[in-house]
Amino acid sequence: MKLKAIAILSLAAMIMPAWAFLSPPLSTTSTCRSSMKRYERFGNPFSLLHSELPMSSTTSESDADTQQIEYNWKNVWYPLTYENYIPTLKESAEATPVSIFNEPLVLWRDASNQLHCANDVCPHRSAALSEGRIRDGKLECLYHGWQYSGEEDGACVTIPQLDEKATIPKQACLRMRKIRVEEGIIWVWMGDEDTETGPPLSGFNVGSKEFKDKGFISYDFQIDLPYDHSYLVENLLDPAHIPISHDRTQGGGKREMAQAYDMEVDEESMSSSGFTGRYRNTRPRKDGKENVWTETKFDAPGIIRYRTVNGKVSFCGDLHCIPLGLGRSRLLFRVYFAGLPKFAASFLGIKPLWLRNLGSCKILEEDVGLITTQEDYFTRTGRNLSQDFLLLRTSDLFVGQYRKWLDSVGHGMPWFQGLSRSSVDVPTSRATKHELQPGLDPMNHRASGFLETRLHRFVIHNPPARKALKRIKKLKKIAMALTLASFATSLNSSFPTLLLQRFFSLVLPGFTSLTAFILHRLEQLFYVSHSRREKLRNLKGV
Ligand code: FES
Ligand SMILES: [Fe+2]
Repeated sequence: MKLKAIAILSLAAMIMPAWAFLSPPLSTTSTCRSSMKRYERFGNPFSLLHSELPMSSTTSESDADTQQIEYNWKNVWYPLTYENYIPTLKESAEATPVSIFNEPLVLWRDASNQLHCANDVCPHRSAALSEGRIRDGKLECLYHGWQYSGEEDGACVTIPQLDEKATIPKQACLRMRKIRVEEGIIWVWMGDEDTETGPPLSGFNVGSKEFKDKGFISYDFQIDLPYDHSYLVENLLDPAHIPISHDRTQGGGKREMAQAYDMEVDEESMSSSGFTGRYRNTRPRKDGKENVWTETKFDAPGIIRYRTVNGKVSFCGDLHCIPLGLGRSRLLFRVYFAGLPKFAASFLGIKPLWLRNLGSCKILEEDVGLITTQEDYFTRTGRNLSQDFLLLRTSDLFVGQYRKWLDSVGHGMPWFQGLSRSSVDVPTSRATKHELQPGLDPMNHRASGFLETRLHRFVIHNPPARKALKRIKKLKKIAMALTLASFATSLNSSFPTLLLQRFFSLVLPGFTSLTAFILHRLEQLFYVSHSRREKLRNLKGV
């Protein structure tokens, strides 16, 4: 029975976020614990793969509320996307646009599948290189055909319009960006100076033999969202909204589970690299056991790591929030499990990832209306969050701490919204965010800032989903053609037997039209976003 319960819980969480594993309850008021204790508890789920957890903070600030810490947003490793989202040359000749704090970047692979990253601006006349293609293993700007090999110096190797005797000008080179692929994620260094440090990692070598041998499985999901990354971080540091906002959504919670939390932040951990803390339910568990803590780490500027051990099952969630630009953010959502019963683990492999990802879109879509209205309020009024936020000690502690962290370091970012401070021009620049977004055809372009539909938030960035959509469309067309053909055959032909006639006039068209209908419904999942208002319209106010 217990095993079954664990398996069901695990399946639900696998299909969605960390919240599915919110530990059931107990009630003690907690105080800050020592780092040693924290690592003991936190180390447990990962002891299979780490000897030591990469969770310690390097410096501490005693008065982070008011003190500003030296910070430079450029000297940070930013995750960009999953490595397997960038197509090989065999799969596609396209380059992939992305951005950090509105700085446009382009990612591509050369003939040997090597990844490259550069500023997405052609040195000729500033067209976006992501509009171009990969030809002969080189990135080609589609405006006049200048080509770039991706070497470290970013040099241009071909200019079709150049006089035969002339040499390629030295200035015709790209601003290359240093990237690293770690744990299946592409990271970019935005700093002007080189760095020896690496990105902050989870410590899980996802997909490796060791990872699988130790019984770990993982699930990846990526989505772009139409609000600032700080609101995304705030949302993901807020477990209290889950039972309400995601009431009975797969991977969400149940509204009757809304409750106070024991929530704590390690004050000594507060630094420019983030902070650590933990939370647990306060409502007593039915089985009388103590509630489980979910260890939490905010790895600045945008990674949230959750770790929970619940019985035999370990759950870990890494949520990478990426500041794409004004009013645009990206989430790389990765969860890991260990200790799942074998049948549950193999069951999870049955459902294609793109289909699970489509399910995951819903939970983010449920929050979109809430977060954009929150952001719009502060844009419209120009007020500070501290003037209008009523933060609860029992559930909003992480949110408050994160916004205070922004108070301390935000001055080193292109824009920010802290608790008591914000960059002066944020409200005005946010107000014009729609004008700042690229004016590309929103229905066809991946560089577009248009994020109103699931297609643009998720599908166009996800190669397996795009492939699946293409196949579904093709199959739908075939099913529709077969329906018409079987109708036409039944009308125009004379059949030797009644059985044959029935088959062509009823059974075959019935089957093919039903198939076309199912495929059509499936296709809709790629375009149609979940609408909370639609759902509310059908509810009676009970
Ligand atoms: S703008 Fe790129 S080749 Fe002319
Ligand atoms: Fe949510």
